[in-house]
Amino acid sequence: MASDYSKEKDLNRRYWDALVAVNADTDGYDGYDIKAFLQGERDLHPIELSELDDVAGLSLLHLQCHFGMDTLMLARRGATVTGFDYSAAAIEKARWLAGKAGIDARFIQGDLYQAPALIDATFDAVFVSWGALNWLPDIQGWARVVSHFLKPGGWFYLAEAHPVMNTIEDENTDDTVRVRYPYFHKPDPIRFDTPTAYSDNRTTLAVTETHEWIHPVGEVVTSLIDAGLRLEFLHEHQEITWRAMPYLVPGQPRQYRMPDDRPNIPLSYSLKAVKPA
Ligand SMILES: C[S@@+](CC[C@H](N)C(=O)[O-])C[C@H]1O[C@@H](n2cnc3c(N)ncnc32)[C@H](O)[C@@H]1O
Repeated sequence: MASDYSKEKDLNRRYWDALVAVNADTDGYDGYDIKAFLQGERDLHPIELSELDDVAGLSLLHLQCHFGMDTLMLARRGATVTGFDYSAAAIEKARWLAGKAGIDARFIQGDLYQAPALIDATFDAVFVSWGALNWLPDIQGWARVVSHFLKPGGWFYLAEAHPVMNTIEDENTDDTVRVRYPYFHKPDPIRFDTPTAYSDNRTTLAVTETHEWIHPVGEVVTSLIDAGLRLEFLHEHQEITWRAMPYLVPGQPRQYRMPDDRPNIPLSYSLKAVKPA
């Protein structure tokens, strides 16, 4: 029988539990800008804001919501939100943040592939963003979960790191853009050892081992189509929402791009797909 990668997923979950304490630490570096969020000064990134449909009045499911700050931004835009994540620490922090911000939201803990057994509802919209798919071994199973939760006529929005960018060496500070990692999916994950938090590279993490999977754009799109969705757009972007390589330079607010003297490979992509009525 093929592995369900529960050991690797469990290690990853422990890594995420450890990261929550750093990412959501308002007394420390506050890399996610939670203080600004609580003052009503943080919104989604320009990429999402330029393409996302109006969510006011919609029921919306945010899969892999981390500690829920984006979920709560979508609630501020008028959606009735449910956030879902497998990290207990993340869900606990999300509920704390909702209370602190005075926003009505529901947060549920569980593994993505078990979500249909844990959430007894369908939604007008499903939202996934930034650094979510690389934690999932099975992209076809993920697409079926997305489709399961959409009402007929509902839409799915994804904004994600581009797998072409993920092939690039991300530590060199010299002026070369080097291919280091594969582009195509393999069943077995790539193992990384990441000693510090991406939001605050001064803080050493208690758990450093992660296992990540590559999902080429073609497989993501085809999985959604196979799961019954119709693609409305697929956009490739020259910017991404974090400094993924040390030589990226600021682009639009809270986004980064290649400097002008390096090849402008796609750094992220986004898509919208609908479930036919
Ligand atoms: C980078 S975060 C998501 C991005 C979020 N938009 C953000 O910027 O904070 C990835 C999230 O995926 C969650 N996750 C990873 N694998 C999962 C799984 N199998 N089921 C549910 N959640 C998972 C992690 O706990 C983590 O909170």
